[in-house]
Amino acid sequence: MTANSDKTIEEQILALKKSRNAVILAHNYQRGEVQDIADFVGDSLELSQKAAQTQADVIVFCGVHFMAETASILNPQKTVLLPDAHAGCPMADMITADQLRRKKAEMPGVTVVTYINSTAAVKAESDYCCTSANGVRVVQSIKGNNILFVPDQYLGDFISKKTGKKMTLWPGYCPTHMRILPEDIIRQKKEHPNASVVVHPECRPDIIALADEALSTSGMVRYAARPDVQELIVGTEVELLHRLYKENPDKKFYPASDKAVCPNMKLITLEKVLKSLETLTPEVKVPEEIRIKAKACVDRMLAIG
Ligand code: 13P
Ligand code: SF4
Repeated sequence: MTANSDKTIEEQILALKKSRNAVILAHNYQRGEVQDIADFVGDSLELSQKAAQTQADVIVFCGVHFMAETASILNPQKTVLLPDAHAGCPMADMITADQLRRKKAEMPGVTVVTYINSTAAVKAESDYCCTSANGVRVVQSIKGNNILFVPDQYLGDFISKKTGKKMTLWPGYCPTHMRILPEDIIRQKKEHPNASVVVHPECRPDIIALADEALSTSGMVRYAARPDVQELIVGTEVELLHRLYKENPDKKFYPASDKAVCPNMKLITLEKVLKSLETLTPEVKVPEEIRIKAKACVDRMLAIG
C-alpha cells in the first residue's frame, strides 16, 4: 500500500487500467508480480498478435523497447506505453539501419529476414520479420538461398539447420543467453537424470545440441504442460520459471543457469506500471515513414503466423 491510498498497488493499477481503457501485455521474462497483473503474458509472437487485435485505447507494454515499438507499428492510433524508457534489448542494438543498408548493397537480390528483436528502422529495411516461434516457417516460405538473417547469429544458425537453407548471418547475440554454458546443462542433467532439457534458440549451438528441444518461451510453456513431462531443465531467462510453476505447481523446474537474467526486462516494476498509467508516459511512437515500411515486414510475418 502507498502512503496516499488505502488500496494496494495492484488495486490502483487495475482501477486505472479500467478508467483508461488500457490493456497490460507482459513478456514471459517480466518480474512475477508484473506477470500477475497483466491481461496477457506471452512470447514475442503472441504479444504482437495480441497487440494487433486489441480494442483498448492504451497498451501498457511490460517488456523491452522493440516489443513496444512493434505494438506501436501495428497501432499508430493507440497510446503505447513502456513503463521504463530505458528497457532496451542489447541484441536489437547490434545492427543499425545504415549497417543493414550497406550489407544489402553487397548482396544484390537478397531477402532480409529480421528477428523481431530489432529496431523499427531495421525492420523498415527488411523483407520479413520473424520470432523464435515462427522463424523456421518464415524462412521455409522464402524461395532460394540468397537470405540475410539479422541480428541473432544463433537463432539464424538454428533456423538454417532446421530448414537446410544456408543463410548469411549477422554476428549479433543475446548477452543473457550467452551466460548459459555447456557445463551448466551437463551438471543439471547429472543432478536431474529424469528431467528433459529445453533451451531457447538464442543459446549457442553447443547448448542447443545438448537439449531435447529448442523452443520460444511460450513453446517451453506448452512443452512443460505435457503430461509426460514431470521435470524440466530450462535454458532461458530465469523468470520463465514463475509462469511454469504457476501453471504446473506439481512439477519440478530447474534453471540451466541462475546467471541467465535479462537486466532490461527487470527494469519494469509495479510502481513504474502505475506511474505510467497515471501520466500516460513514457510513450513509444515510430515516425510514420519508418512505421509504414516496418509494418509491411511485420504484416508478412503475421500472415504466416
Ligand atoms: P520469445 O519470443 O521466445 O519470448 O523470446 C523473446 C526474447 O527476447 C528472448 O530473449
Ligand atoms: Fe534482448 Fe536477450 Fe533480454 Fe531477450 S533476453 S530482451 S534478446 S537481451
